[in-house]
Formats: sequence, structure tokens, C-alpha cells
Amino acid sequence: MTKVYVLNGPNLNLLGVRDPAMYGTETLADVHDRCAVVASEHGFELDFRQSNHEGELIDWIQEAGHAVRDGQSIGVVLNAGAYTHTSVALADAISGLSVPTIEVHISNVHAREAFRQHSYLSAVASGIIVGLGTYGYEAGIRALAHQKNVLRP
Ligand code: DQA
Repeated sequence: MTKVYVLNGPNLNLLGVRDPAMYGTETLADVHDRCAVVASEHGFELDFRQSNHEGELIDWIQEAGHAVRDGQSIGVVLNAGAYTHTSVALADAISGLSVPTIEVHISNVHAREAFRQHSYLSAVASGIIVGLGTYGYEAGIRALAHQKNVLRP
């Protein structure tokens, strides 16, 4: 079964508790359940993970890249949290293996502090979703499916 990876970076384990005015009241488990529904609609197996560690996220992106190359995965929906704004290494992992990656942010990072308005990931992402709340994850899975069918059939 084709896998879709949904990878979450630092502090996203705190969803629902962390600044609900900014990030909403849904927990990461709720997001997982929503993603599972959308993944199964498309016939994908969901692989949903969260880490507070940059190196672990890099390992997972590389894993996803190999799975895509082997025809076993459609790509990654990635909310890298604050690493978005700091990590050349995450960007290198995505571009190094040409991993189809939809960058997702729950909040509208462009309406926030200046340091959140730059992303190292956007230039190597195959799409970017910001400010749609946790619906962005669902949209991200649908976007990967659409890109696979339309752009990389
Ligand atoms: C975030 C935005 C980042 O700036 C922040 O560091 C996060 C969450 C979002 O989903 O809106 O951790 O990626």
C-alpha cells in the first residue's frame, strides 16, 4: 500500500495545550485521526510521526525519500515547526532526495514575527499551505495525491 508520511517537528506534541488562540484546541491525536480518514479515502497508508529532534526528522525525510524512489510512498506532509526557520539540514534532506514535500503551517506565519516569515523549506517544497489551521494537513495529503496524478503521473 502506498504510504503518505505526515511528519511533525518540535512542540507539535503540545497541540491543544500550546497557545490555543494561535494553534487551536485540537490535539495532535485529533490531527492524526483526520489525516487517517483522508489517507484511507485515497487508498494510502498513513505514517504519522512527531519529533522534537532535528536529526530524527532528517532521518525520517531520508526514509521517505527512499520509499518514494522505491515506489512505496507518495511523499511527505511536513510541519517542521520552528526548524522551518532555522534548518538548512532539513532543506538539504528534502532537496537531496527530491522528496515530494508539502510544507504545512497551522498558523499564518506571514502575519507573525519577522523571523517566522522566512522558511528554508519553501524553496524545496512542492507546495506550501499556511494559515488554514489543522485543515492544512488534510489539504496537504490531498495536494500530494493531486500532484502525483497531475504533475508526476
Ligand atoms: C508552526 C509555525 C512555526 O513558526 C512555529 O515555530 C511552530 C508551528 C505552525 O504550524 O503554524 O511550531 O509551524
